[in-house]
Amino acid sequence: MRLSVIGCGYLGAVHAAAMASIGHEVVGIDIDPRKIEALARGEAPFFEPGLQEILAEGVASGRLTFTSDIAAAEGAAVHFVGVGTPQLQGGHAADLSHVNAAFESLLPHVREGDVVAGKSTVPVGTAAELAPRVEAVGATLVWNPEFLREGWAVQDTIDPDRLVTGVPSTPAGERAAQVLREVYHPAVAKGTPFIVTDYATAELVKVAANAFLATKISFINAMAEIAEVTGADVTQLADAIGHDVRIGRRFLGAGIGFGGGCLPKDIRAFAARAEELGRGESVSFLREVDAINLRRRERAVQLVVDALDGSVFDKKVAVLGAAFKPFSDDVRDSPALHAAVRLHGLGAHVVVTDPQAIENARRVQPQLNYEPDRDATIRDADAVLMVTEWDEYRRELTPEHASALTVGRVVVDGRNGLDAAAWRAAGWRYYGMGRP
Ligand code: UGA
Repeated sequence: MRLSVIGCGYLGAVHAAAMASIGHEVVGIDIDPRKIEALARGEAPFFEPGLQEILAEGVASGRLTFTSDIAAAEGAAVHFVGVGTPQLQGGHAADLSHVNAAFESLLPHVREGDVVAGKSTVPVGTAAELAPRVEAVGATLVWNPEFLREGWAVQDTIDPDRLVTGVPSTPAGERAAQVLREVYHPAVAKGTPFIVTDYATAELVKVAANAFLATKISFINAMAEIAEVTGADVTQLADAIGHDVRIGRRFLGAGIGFGGGCLPKDIRAFAARAEELGRGESVSFLREVDAINLRRRERAVQLVVDALDGSVFDKKVAVLGAAFKPFSDDVRDSPALHAAVRLHGLGAHVVVTDPQAIENARRVQPQLNYEPDRDATIRDADAVLMVTEWDEYRRELTPEHASALTVGRVVVDGRNGLDAAAWRAAGWRYYGMGRP
């Protein structure tokens, strides 16, 4: 099939490349010429495992092209819109200006019978508002949310655990759902659940899933706070409750909390939308989820301060990690970078390292010192703070190796990913999050 993908960020670029890799002819369109130039050369403009390979392959085959000319969408049977919906400046609601601009520019190039598939995460009610404009040109709007995780985006797009499509309850809606089944044919053929529903449910599935995940993380971080005043160990607690299959161990990783371009802004936008709908109290717990999450960043900073006898002023603190999670170069709302900035503000001599995210981190927090080499980062440090659990830090950095480089023997494990016993045995003062 011929497909167009409007918006080539983390979502759109992966979607375009993945759709080409399963056999479609795809044009990716974005207003950012820098992104388009890189993509058109077959180069991924950000780090995402596996993307480079399918991108280069797609571009070389001629099935995958990129342009900043929206007219190139003409002739595609399905137009995916995957532009960003960041947090509104000065508020908690979602900023829909990119979505509106994308529809505005796309619609003159949409033909009768086409399907327009929204993929952006939007407040419930957005699709119903956009639908008449799409119907006016004889096309059908569907809402087809995306559940990919950064770091696993290629795999999640080609082989998702479910597909959700919100359609109008008309014959055109039914036809559009069928078209989407054809788009995702390999996943559909292997029996991946394909849920056809209404617009509102499709939009809500997306934010409900992220709200649940955020709540799960903040739940275990709340337990970490209780563990801290009782001497309990939150990692053992998580293991123990995680054996209950109704609870499950995944996303019970206590630590410095969640960040990134999705979970934080999605729970805020959801709460803001619920307020607008007069149902603010239904999701008021999300404010608590947010507050717990932000407290954990402060807790990590406080652990470093306490470990250095109450002041980090003029002390060297090595910060291992800048990305919001491993296998990503994304620093949007990164807890790691947040902690580094706070320590810098307290007068510490902060040096930040990360295998992938230094360039992005430097762009948003230029005042920090960055060092690509892990060992140079920790050399002469008074304290080491591990905040993104890359294998380079979690598995490969041994306490014996670190001992030969640092001045102090203080390690704060912001992700509870290090072997506490091994670090202590090597003479380090180890501090975890919610652990004795
Ligand atoms: C999240 C969702 O997991 C995806 O399903 C969704 O499609 C995506 O948002 C989106 O809306 O686009 P992502 O932002 O890539 O994906 O990251 P996650 O893997 O969910 O991790 C989010 C944050 O939670 C990270 O900072 C991570 O370190 C943290 N986390 C995760 C914890 O602190 N503890 C855990 O146990 C798990």
